[in-house]
Amino acid sequence: MIAGNRSINYLRISVTDRCNFRCRYCVPASPFSVIDHEKIARYEEILRITRLACELGITKVRITGGEPFVRKGIFSFLENLCSIKALKDISITTNGALLTQDKIKALIQMGIKRLNFSLDTLDPVKFTSITGRDRFHRVWDSIVTAQALGISPIKINVVALRGFNEDEIEAIAGLTLKYPFHIRFIEYMPMGDSDVERKQQILTQEIQDKIESTLGPLMPMEKEYNDGPAKKFKLANAKGVVGFITPISSHFCSECNRLRLTSRGTLRPCLLNNYETDILNPLRNGATDKELKSIIESTLTHKPLFHSLNDPTAKNIPISHMTSIGG
Ligand code: 5AD
Ligand code: SF4
Repeated sequence: MIAGNRSINYLRISVTDRCNFRCRYCVPASPFSVIDHEKIARYEEILRITRLACELGITKVRITGGEPFVRKGIFSFLENLCSIKALKDISITTNGALLTQDKIKALIQMGIKRLNFSLDTLDPVKFTSITGRDRFHRVWDSIVTAQALGISPIKINVVALRGFNEDEIEAIAGLTLKYPFHIRFIEYMPMGDSDVERKQQILTQEIQDKIESTLGPLMPMEKEYNDGPAKKFKLANAKGVVGFITPISSHFCSECNRLRLTSRGTLRPCLLNNYETDILNPLRNGATDKELKSIIESTLTHKPLFHSLNDPTAKNIPISHMTSIGG
């Protein structure tokens, strides 16, 4: 599938809007409700949409949430997903809190070798304050266990926030000296009514300067095919990679190869734009494969060429939070 001059081969599937964490940059500040169970796409519905998307050129899938592992039956769903031959690459974004050694082994056995964790601080007290849950040690244990069991690469997403983890940036980047992790600093995207303020955003240049002033030069790495939006660097003698995801300071829309399926069964051509099409209701109402494929294709004709997150007057910026769209 082509959108503009971009070839779309990557589907991000949010399997739930529920999460066992309450990360302050992610969930709304005001009380919010979760989506009714019957409005959430069932696993067999997601699998059908995925198979059809594969017929249209999708080869790569990432499972997100909310937190994917809070959804019942996720392991048998993942097994079914792994049996789709056209999928060359399946990975999962998780907060890691529910991943035990046995579960990680099960993932490896079914062929899932890549995991993205979210971890914004190495300080257990700060961890509790940002996620609303006292789970630092549990998350750190699952990251280390995943590494010991051979998950590779392990990517760790870090949302950099002024007044929260700005004093830890060097220590977090420094993990790459000891571990083969890909640490990815993400610029905070102001979405919906989160209680993190826009002024807490730290842009990549500042993060990079901080790291280089204490840990030495960050050497740029070649971009590999299908690499995604992170700009990758290495510290001298590092085992891992330091990456930057720059939705604010330098948008990567022209390289974006993604389509998103939300847990409500809508397709979104762009995370940072409210445009979406409903594929679940047509499917439930008996649409044929051909009709569903044409919904997927027509959604992509609406893939915007750039986002307007930096423009506070823009009307099409997201009102939904990451928990419901699936980061
Ligand atoms: N801005 C930047 N990153 C965010 N994430 C969630 N909400 C935001 C936001 N507003 C990150 C999480 C997770 C990834 C999928 O998205 O940390 O790692
Ligand atoms: Fe949950 Fe991830 Fe959002 Fe945190 S960032 S609340 S772990 S979905």
